[in-house]
Amino acid sequence: MATSTDSPETTHATDSIESHQKEDRRFPPSPTFAGRARVGSHAEYTAMYKTSIEEPEVFWREETEDLVFRTPWKNFSSWELPKARFFEGATLNVTESCLDRHLGSGTRNKAAIVFEGEPGDVRTLTYFELHREVVKMAAILLDLGVKSGDRVAIYMGMVPEAAVAMLACARIGAVHSVVFGGFSAEALRDRINDCGATLVITQDGAWRRGSILPLKQIADAALAQTPQVKHALVVQRIGKTGDTTAHGKPFSCPMTTGRDVFWEDAAKTPSTASLQLARNPHAFDAEHPLFILYTSGSTGKPKGVLHTTAGYLAGAHVTTKYVFDLQEQDLYFCTADIGWVTGHSYIVYGPLSNGASMLMYEGAPNFPEQDRLWDIVERHGVTILYTAPTAIRSFIRWGDDWPNKHDLSSLRLLGSVGEPINPEAWTWYHRVIGGGRCPIVDTWWQTETGSIMATTLPGACYSKPGSCGLPFFGVDLAVVKDHGEPCAPGEGGKLVIKRPWPSMARTLWNDEARYASAYWTVMPDVYFTGDGARMDQDGYLWVVGRIDDVLNVSGHRIGTAEIESALVSHPSVAEAAAVGRPDDLKGQALVVFVTLKGGHAGSPEMKKAITEHIDKEIGKFARPDAIRFTDALPKTRSGKIMRRLLKEVAAGAKAPQGDTSTLEDLSVLAKLSSDEE
Ligand code: WT7
Repeated sequence: MATSTDSPETTHATDSIESHQKEDRRFPPSPTFAGRARVGSHAEYTAMYKTSIEEPEVFWREETEDLVFRTPWKNFSSWELPKARFFEGATLNVTESCLDRHLGSGTRNKAAIVFEGEPGDVRTLTYFELHREVVKMAAILLDLGVKSGDRVAIYMGMVPEAAVAMLACARIGAVHSVVFGGFSAEALRDRINDCGATLVITQDGAWRRGSILPLKQIADAALAQTPQVKHALVVQRIGKTGDTTAHGKPFSCPMTTGRDVFWEDAAKTPSTASLQLARNPHAFDAEHPLFILYTSGSTGKPKGVLHTTAGYLAGAHVTTKYVFDLQEQDLYFCTADIGWVTGHSYIVYGPLSNGASMLMYEGAPNFPEQDRLWDIVERHGVTILYTAPTAIRSFIRWGDDWPNKHDLSSLRLLGSVGEPINPEAWTWYHRVIGGGRCPIVDTWWQTETGSIMATTLPGACYSKPGSCGLPFFGVDLAVVKDHGEPCAPGEGGKLVIKRPWPSMARTLWNDEARYASAYWTVMPDVYFTGDGARMDQDGYLWVVGRIDDVLNVSGHRIGTAEIESALVSHPSVAEAAAVGRPDDLKGQALVVFVTLKGGHAGSPEMKKAITEHIDKEIGKFARPDAIRFTDALPKTRSGKIMRRLLKEVAAGAKAPQGDTSTLEDLSVLAKLSSDEE
């Protein structure tokens, strides 16, 4: 393992630090890193930040110069919150910034996507090839009747065609809604119907831990209840690898005649007129909808976050460039899935608009063994790695021997996203993966913010383990008390954003009122993030976590109400409450308290049935970590479930596994507690 080349400025803390509160080590970039970085000093960051806040039009004029506008923007922004518009007057086709603009430069034959499948197959798509594929798929979408403004659902795994599908939609002005491949048929159906998608792009199956996840079969179950869907376009991933068995199980991809089309077949015969339009696409208004991405909120219904064209592109573009300090020779690897916002902004739009080379990996990080990612880094020469704290904690658990077996010296920058990173995990990441020489950017943002809102620019600012650093350009962050008074340094409060920014969500699909009430009512004209945080005396942000009814389980955002409504849809369940419990690996674990209808008893079989019900209603990733049966749920006099109490119960002694003789009587607790919540 490489030895440390950067010693922290101050080292009055050790690896054994338990809490963020005590953490005050500072890790500045090395002079070599800073010397080559796009933003190489704190003074430069401060000057750029100042311009971005005081003269946003000047800042964004310069920063959008390398994006392609058909009609240049006249006015940076106008708002009457919660409505806001950016880059007014502009027309553009997002894919021209991501693809066409690179074809006339040296980037033309550079790798856009280096893809590694889980079975080990490797495929590289240059910018030229990616453009060609996107044009072809855009033409096929046109042939299948998709028009500008139509919604297209994408239910795929991590294959290059997933990025092609998103860009093909954008090329013709269709609004994509990517649904994470881990969602169940029911969850997919609800999202397709909510956004009114008329076409679904999926794939026969995806490789996951040596098995095939039969995406098309799952999509078929959803498509039985989505009357408005006219076609399914199916990419052959499994068919292509030629292996149609997984662990000896036969695999099939049934096709419905008239509705389903194989991409490989369709791609051979696009119509001339559609090809013509796909090659010379229309430009769209700056505020034309680009995509809808569903995420969890504090009610049972997922929120369809809507992002629009120019502002989103500008945010993804500028953050990718500066936060990852992208350089010509980089190979950037983001381990997120395309089904979440990180995959949208930092696998597709941000890297491609910057002409970056990116590595895309299909499968699990521990297949065939726990060093898969380190093997990928070594073999391909990855220079930038962006992953999540929950993954880092798994790597720690698997042991240092796995990364230590590999030469990771190509890495120069590391990133973290999705949840607060504990200082222990940070230190391990820095030392074992980064060899002590790579800066770590801890990036705070959300599905709704569209792009990174806070971090430490790697060449300009020192980082503090566990803090996501300083606001990005143009972002006006604050931590405030309940009624909006600012908190003192170090004091905990609500994290808000005080002025609109280009990549912010514009609304929730079909739910303008919920958009206004969920984000814009805590303080007038101020965006509320749902997070609790504090800002220290150096202006560094420490995000504590969600303060609404949203959990963060292994970096997956899960609404407690969503889990509860799935639970009560089980015929034996009378009432349910879902809460988070601190968990060393997952950040938060999901604990559910369930009361059963008369005549049903809590049993291991019942636990299994409830688990399978969650798999079916939402997806396996939302499986409860513990199911606890109770005769009653503690409630306030007005009938509200006392979550704070349940959280305490959940965080206490673990429920005896499989032992159903000790059913909890939480009504006793309720009697003992006050009626405050
Ligand atoms: C929530 C947003 C942003 C892409 C992935 C998650 C938490 C995210 C951090 C971080 C502390 C973080 C927040 C936020 N979060 N990044 N670096 N440090 N917390 O997107 O599913 O929309 O979830 O994730 O609680 O509100 P998301």
